[in-house]
Amino acid sequence: MAPLILPFVFLAYLVLYSIALSIPTIPNFLSVGRAQQQQVLKSPLDTWIEQQERIALDKLLANVSPGGRNVKDAAKGSVIASPSREHPNYFYQWVRDAAITTSTLVDLYTDEPSSKLSSDLSNILDDYSDLQYKLQRTSNPSGTFDDLSGLGEPKFEADGSPFIGSWGRPQRDGPPLRALTLMTYLRAYNESHPGLWTSAGAEDWYKDLYDPSLPANSIIKADLEYTSHFWNQSGFDLWEEVDGFHFFTAMVQLKALREGAELAKAFQDKGAAQWYAEQASYVEAFLQQFWDERSGFLVETLNTDRTGLDCALLLGSLHGYPSKYSHDTPVFPPYSEEILISFLRLVQDQQERFPINAAPSSSEDGVAALEGIGIGRYPEDVYDGYGNDKRGGNPWFLCTASAAEVLYRTADHLISTGNLEISPIGIRFYEALLSSSSLEPEIDRSYGPSDALFHSVIERLRNTGDEFIDVIKTHTDAQGSMSEQFDRVTGYERGARDLTWSYGAFLQAIRARKRVL
Ligand SMILES: *[C@@H]1O[C@H](CO)[C@@H](O)[C@H](O)[C@H]1NC(C)=O
Ligand SMILES: *[C@@H]1O[C@H](CO)[C@@H](O)[C@H](O)[C@H]1NC(C)=O
Repeated sequence: MAPLILPFVFLAYLVLYSIALSIPTIPNFLSVGRAQQQQVLKSPLDTWIEQQERIALDKLLANVSPGGRNVKDAAKGSVIASPSREHPNYFYQWVRDAAITTSTLVDLYTDEPSSKLSSDLSNILDDYSDLQYKLQRTSNPSGTFDDLSGLGEPKFEADGSPFIGSWGRPQRDGPPLRALTLMTYLRAYNESHPGLWTSAGAEDWYKDLYDPSLPANSIIKADLEYTSHFWNQSGFDLWEEVDGFHFFTAMVQLKALREGAELAKAFQDKGAAQWYAEQASYVEAFLQQFWDERSGFLVETLNTDRTGLDCALLLGSLHGYPSKYSHDTPVFPPYSEEILISFLRLVQDQQERFPINAAPSSSEDGVAALEGIGIGRYPEDVYDGYGNDKRGGNPWFLCTASAAEVLYRTADHLISTGNLEISPIGIRFYEALLSSSSLEPEIDRSYGPSDALFHSVIERLRNTGDEFIDVIKTHTDAQGSMSEQFDRVTGYERGARDLTWSYGAFLQAIRARKRVL
């Protein structure tokens, strides 16, 4: 196209665009400012993300009671996994999934505590905690409240009654995740209500959540007691298939015990603070066992015949990352080389495994590029969303979103610290990330804002994160619905429709993206 006609094409485009939006009169239009022009020129991905953010929140809230259109007959405060009641039936409340979804709502509350959305969310959060109080005290096939064994029960009926079918139980990630969600809410609520803490009525609000004098009466305290006494016993993983010790579970246990120790201190519950901190130090040491020196990546479950690569490694890193109220040193954060190299190995596996993921391009020296693709749960997966398929599983929305989030968070970390160090553990990740450029990362040196490589790494992290989001965009339907999986051959959605966690994971990835734009 000749350079001279470009401006005219551009103008014609703007005019057509203004007509499409029924923006009045051309003279007005010609005086649009830079900001508006940029808005017109927003990338298709940005435009989609903006719209999809609203849709995802709406569809997530549709699965949350009170108020959700899909949960009219569920107990107040419940978060169902999906509205699908058959083929497959996901119309249950999982303790883990509900806590994770609710933590997304707590984050939205924390962003703007005085907004209209936050006052609606506050009602939901209060009902959520009332219902969790009841569920904790409901006897179920995992046990009872008296000896706390019942807290390991993974799922309940939507009306709050126990689920009595056979299942992979107990699962020990639910209590720490629930404690974390409610601890963050307690901190955020306290922060947005100055004076409440020392006021006469404060106790009424806090005592159901944390009451040092009556541990059996408070939700957070019960979950912390459970976590501190049961973390060293085996349980089923977050995918509900393998009994053993799991990275994801241990990561959220560590976070809950550390932040629980801090909360106990704030409540003058000194003995408990010390006990939680001590157990946290054991979990922290235990977590080192998940680094497999021989294979050079983290494994999700100890002593299994699986490779160990798993999207749960990414989830463990994201959900185990200290909250903004904590002063703890992160263990296996998203930007750690152990996570990034495991990420790379998982991506490489999934790229070859699923036909919809095109083969990677490789550089002249043969390094396969790191590209955004559809990510499933783990290589050996055979669950196809309805039953088992010997040929293998499919990519999942929530895993693909988590992959994007890991990269955005890594970029965010580099921007805020201004320092990148590369050791033999992480070098392959950075080589794959930079394979399309002429820059060669070197081991055992650090890079900062005065190095070109430092800026390239940040840019590549952002762009590759966007590629993962673009994959989600491709497989989300025209109404913005996200199910559990998308087909590894056709790309169409599969499994439970409107999976609550798919929307939550997408929203979390987009929050992380905004921090690095
Ligand atoms: C609540 O906020 C007050 C300050 O307003 C602070 O002193 C107190 O430690 C906070 N409590 C918790 C549990 O964070
Ligand atoms: C688990 O931890 C508790 C508390 O620290 C300890 O008393 C118990 O011996 C441990 N059990 C195992 C199997 O390690």
